[in-house]
Amino acid sequence: MTNAKLTALMARGTQFLGCDSAILCGAMSWVSERHLVSAMSNAGGFGVIACGAMTPALLDAEITATKALTTKPFGVNLITMHPQLFDLIDVCASHDVTHIVLAGGLPPKGSIEAIKAKGAKLICFAPALALAKKLARSGVDALIVEGHEAGGHIGPVATSVLAQEILPEMSEQLPVFVAGGIGRGEAIAAYLEMGAAGVQLGTRFACATESIAHPAFKKAFFRASARDAIASVQIDPRLPVIPVRALKNVGMENFTAKQREVANLLDSGSVDMGEAQLQIEHFWAGALRRAVIDGDVDGGSLMAGQSVGMVTKEEPVADIIAQLMAEAAVALERRAA
Ligand SMILES: Cc1cc2nc3c(=O)[nH]c(=O)nc-3n(C[C@H](O)[C@H](O)[C@H](O)COP(=O)(O)O)c2cc1C
Repeated sequence: MTNAKLTALMARGTQFLGCDSAILCGAMSWVSERHLVSAMSNAGGFGVIACGAMTPALLDAEITATKALTTKPFGVNLITMHPQLFDLIDVCASHDVTHIVLAGGLPPKGSIEAIKAKGAKLICFAPALALAKKLARSGVDALIVEGHEAGGHIGPVATSVLAQEILPEMSEQLPVFVAGGIGRGEAIAAYLEMGAAGVQLGTRFACATESIAHPAFKKAFFRASARDAIASVQIDPRLPVIPVRALKNVGMENFTAKQREVANLLDSGSVDMGEAQLQIEHFWAGALRRAVIDGDVDGGSLMAGQSVGMVTKEEPVADIIAQLMAEAAVALERRAA
């Protein structure tokens, strides 16, 4: 009976995504590749490939490899500032990718049309109600509302506040998925009851058995508690720095030095603001790679959300989804009683 309620509350999300459980595994650069993505979709959730800084040829190969591991739908996350964004959209179209998630800012001119012309559904991040309305008006098919608790690049507002501001206003118009700080099914039940079509989790899946993250990366997650996942600090107000949440380590301190270096380059006129932003993003991409792939947990970036304290061991993706669904079902049952 209660499972029926959970199924009903998730129906809009599952229909939109074409899967059994309206739980997305948010794209995580270097982590969300063929293995984690296919495991997620095969387990009834929804996997998303992180394109990050991949070239069109690399993305093409990753989609092909993912398709070889699953026949279920999955998405591709593209970063708006990628210099070859339109070529990447073409690669997705050539594979009939059903869902594209655009991250890193508002969709550049022409990108919404390019994505939708080829039949894919477009999901965008809405960091505020005004932007949610603007994105809906411009033809975006679904929204992700992601709060400050999340791992990776973050906005300034808590998930709970964004959910209260955006769900009542937007959830009738289009499916809205809530992300950031979700570690258990009780929270999923609550957001579904508030009108969410589903949820997106990253941190909780980063250390799944199928994740290729280095054992040292996973171990750092298992040891960490919520307060270890801190937001980076901006040292120069001129720098267009989007804060990043990651586990406190030397790599996090190196970011302060990197900002000083880029600020000095700006002062000397040797780079402009666009190049400065690109240098900052390259810093993070390189640091994350060193931690995820090479296992450098001191000098690399251990991007993680505050839900990291709820990640205690390596588990198959299917078990994590089953746990989250069971917890959500029990929570709904309790309320009904
Ligand atoms: C290691 C890591 C890397 C991430 N990389 C990306 C990325 O490349 N693109 C993106 O849109 N989001 C990225 N995210 C955010 C996740 O997709 C997801 O929205 C977020 O983790 C959800 O919040 P949670 O960490 O509290 O579960 C990343 C998160 C983590 C933990």
